[in-house]
Amino acid sequence: MSCQQDIVLNQLPSQRARAMLRKMTLMEKLGQLAQVSGNYGDISDELRHSIQQGRVSSIINEVDVKVVNELQRIATKESRLGIPLLIGRDVIHGFKTIFPIPLGQAATWCTKTVQDGARVAAIEAASQGVNWTFAPMIDITRDPRWGRIAESLGEDPFLCAHLGAAMVKGFQTESLNNTSAIASCAKHFAGYGYSESGRDYNFANISENELHNTVFPPFKLAAHTGVATFMTSFSDLNGIPGSGNSWLTQDILREQWNFAGFVVSDWDSIKELQVHGFTEDDKHSACVAANAGVDMEMASSCYSRYLPELVAQNAVHSDKIDEMALRILELKYALGLFDNPYTESEDFVDMVNKVHLRKALDTATKSCVLLKNNSTDEHRRYTPQCTASKILPLDASKINNLAVIGPLADDGYEQLGTWIFDGEEQHSITCKAAFQNKLKSAATLSFVKGLETSRDESSAQFEQALTIAKAADAAILVLGEESILSGEAHCRTNLDLPGAQIQLIEKIATTNTPIILVVMAGRPLTLAPIIDKVDAILYAWHPGTMGGQAIADLIFGDAVPSGKLPVTFPRVVGQIPIYYGQKHGGRPASNNTFVHQNDFPVRASQTSLGMSSTHIDTHYSPLFPFGFGLSFADIAYSPVEVDSHYLSKSNDKSKVITATVTLKNKSDFDAEEVVQMYIRDLVSSATRPVKELKGFKRVKIEAGRNKTVSFELTANDLGFYGPQNKFIVEVGKFRIWIGPNSEVNDYQEVELIS
Ligand code: GLC
Repeated sequence: MSCQQDIVLNQLPSQRARAMLRKMTLMEKLGQLAQVSGNYGDISDELRHSIQQGRVSSIINEVDVKVVNELQRIATKESRLGIPLLIGRDVIHGFKTIFPIPLGQAATWCTKTVQDGARVAAIEAASQGVNWTFAPMIDITRDPRWGRIAESLGEDPFLCAHLGAAMVKGFQTESLNNTSAIASCAKHFAGYGYSESGRDYNFANISENELHNTVFPPFKLAAHTGVATFMTSFSDLNGIPGSGNSWLTQDILREQWNFAGFVVSDWDSIKELQVHGFTEDDKHSACVAANAGVDMEMASSCYSRYLPELVAQNAVHSDKIDEMALRILELKYALGLFDNPYTESEDFVDMVNKVHLRKALDTATKSCVLLKNNSTDEHRRYTPQCTASKILPLDASKINNLAVIGPLADDGYEQLGTWIFDGEEQHSITCKAAFQNKLKSAATLSFVKGLETSRDESSAQFEQALTIAKAADAAILVLGEESILSGEAHCRTNLDLPGAQIQLIEKIATTNTPIILVVMAGRPLTLAPIIDKVDAILYAWHPGTMGGQAIADLIFGDAVPSGKLPVTFPRVVGQIPIYYGQKHGGRPASNNTFVHQNDFPVRASQTSLGMSSTHIDTHYSPLFPFGFGLSFADIAYSPVEVDSHYLSKSNDKSKVITATVTLKNKSDFDAEEVVQMYIRDLVSSATRPVKELKGFKRVKIEAGRNKTVSFELTANDLGFYGPQNKFIVEVGKFRIWIGPNSEVNDYQEVELIS
C-alpha cells in the first residue's frame, strides 16, 4: 500500500472494519456489495425493508438531503448492525455550480484549477448528503467521434494523469474524514476510450504494451494518489469485458499497483456480461465478476440473487466475500460515516455562492482556446480599433452595433454540457447577456438565433441574421453542439458543425463585417469548412454556469486567452485516430512526399507518388495540434538549452538534466502561457512516439517582460514499458523540446548513459 493510500484508508478504519466484519452474517456481508438506485425523493417500502435487512450498502442518485438523512437513519437505527450507506452521484464537472466539461478543464493545463473545481463540486455535493462520486473519468481517447471524450481529460497520458490526480485530491482532500470530502472513483477501468469506431460500449483491441504506456498511467497515478474506488468499464478489452476481467482488477490493480480501495461495476455492467456472450446467465455473471474482484454491483442484482448460492457451492469463496465487504466497510469508516452518517446542510456554505461562481468563471476563462485571430480578407471593414491582422480583442467603447447570432448564444442550459444532474440553467450567464453588459449604453446589440437548435436545418432565419450582421461593426456567432450531442452513448460519425450552421456562417460571410465564431461543443469538431470564412475562433467547449461571462471577458479583452488543446483537432473525420504522440513508422509522412490526389498526373505509375504514411485526399497534419492555443500576447520562445547533454542511468536519483527556455512577451498584454516539454526516445527496444509530453507549466508573463522556465528530467522520466511489458530505462539518445504546442521544432539532443 502506498503511503498516500495509507492516509486515505488509514489503519484505524481497517481495524474497526475488521471488528465489524466479525459480527456480520454472510447475508449482511453480501448486503455490503449492493448499490441500488434511489427513487428521487421517494423511499419505497421495498427499499426501506431492504435497508432494514442490511441488504443495501449504497444508494445512487438520491440528492435530497432530507431523504438522504432518513435513509441513513433507517440504515443506522433500524438495521441489526447499523451500517451507514454510501450515497453516490455523478458529480463530473460540478454539482450545482457547473464548471466546464472535463475536456474543457483539461484545456486549462492547470492542476490547481482542476483541483479547485473538484473541491467546489465536493463541497456542494457533500452539503446534500453525497459522500461518493463517480469521477474522475480518466479514459484516454483519440477518437472525437466517441461522445464520452467530453468527460475525458484528453488524448495524452501525462496530462490526463496529472489532472486526474488533481481531481482526486480536490474531491477527497488530505483526509476522507473531512466534512466536505467525498470519495472519488477512477473510471472506466480500462480501455473504454479506444471503443472501436468511436461507438460507445463497443469492444477495444489494445496491445498490452499500449495499455501500459498509454491507457494505464492515469489510473496508476490515481491509485497511488489514494483514489478511494475504481469503476470497471462496460467495454470488452481484448475479448474480456471490464467487469469480468481479473487481469485488470486483480493482477494489475491489486497486485501490481497495491490498490487498497474497492471496485464498483458500472451500471448493470455485471448483468451485461451475459449480453457480451461472456457468461451464460446472471448467476454465472455474479460468479465471474466476484472472482474477478468487482466488489460492489451497481444497479443490477446478480450478486444479491446468486452469491448466497455461489458461496454455498464454494464457487465464490467466503474469504473472497470477506475481502469485498471489508474494503467497502473500510471506506465507510474512513469517511467517518459510522461516527456521523448525517448531513447538516447548515454546516456548509451555500451552493452557487460568489466564491464558487468566481472559481467557475476562472476555470471557464482558462479553458477557452483561441484557435484563430486574424482576418482572412484584408478588405474587411474593421471596427476602428482592429489592427490589420487581429480582430480580437474588441474594443467595446468603439462598438456602436454588435450582432449576436446563434442558437447557443443565449441558452443557459446548453452551455452547461453533458452529465448535468444537479446544475440549473437559471444560474447561467449566457453569452448574449454578458456581451450586452460589455457594450456602452448607447450601443445596440441585435440578436437573432439564426437556427432554432444546433441541429436545425432550416434557413428561415438567415435573412434576419444577415440583416443585423450587415449593419453591425462586428458579428459574434455562437454555434456548435447542443449538450445532448456528446456524452455517454452520443457518438457522431460526422464532426462538422451540425444542422445548417455551415450555411449560416457562409451567409454571414457575404458581408464585410468581421466575424468572431464562438464554438460550444463536447468534442473537437472538424472546422475546416468554415475556417477561412471567419476572422476569429474561440473554442469554449461547454463552458458551464459562467461560460458566457468568460467568453465575453475574453472577446472584449478583460481577460487574455490561455487555453491549450488537450486533444488534436482533425481536418476531416477520416483522419481519426489522429494525435500528436503517433509512432514514426518506417515511411513517415512529410511535406516532400505528400501529393494530393488532385495533383496526381494522369496514368501516374503505381510507385511514382508519395509512398509514405499519409492519405492522398487530405494532408496528414491536423487542423490544430495538441497543445495549440493562441493568446493576444505575442510570446516568443528562445531555443531550448540543457545544462548537460548526458544523464547517468546509474545514479538517476541524484542526477537530472535541466532544460530551459526563456519566454519574451513582445506585446502589451499581460498573459499566461502553458509551456510544454516533450521528449523522444530515438532508438528503443519497442518503438516510442515521435513526441511524449513530460512536463507542463502554466506561467504568468507580464507585458514586455521575459520569463525563464525550466524542467528537470531524470533517467526514470525517460523510461517506458518495453517488449516484455516491464518498465525499463534504456541508454541511448533522446530529444528534448520545450514550446507552446506539440508541433515545436527546436530541440536539444541528450544521451542517457549507463
Ligand atoms: C453510467 C456511466 C458511468 C456512471 C454510471 C452511474 O452508465 O458509464 O460513468 O458513473 O453509469 O451513473
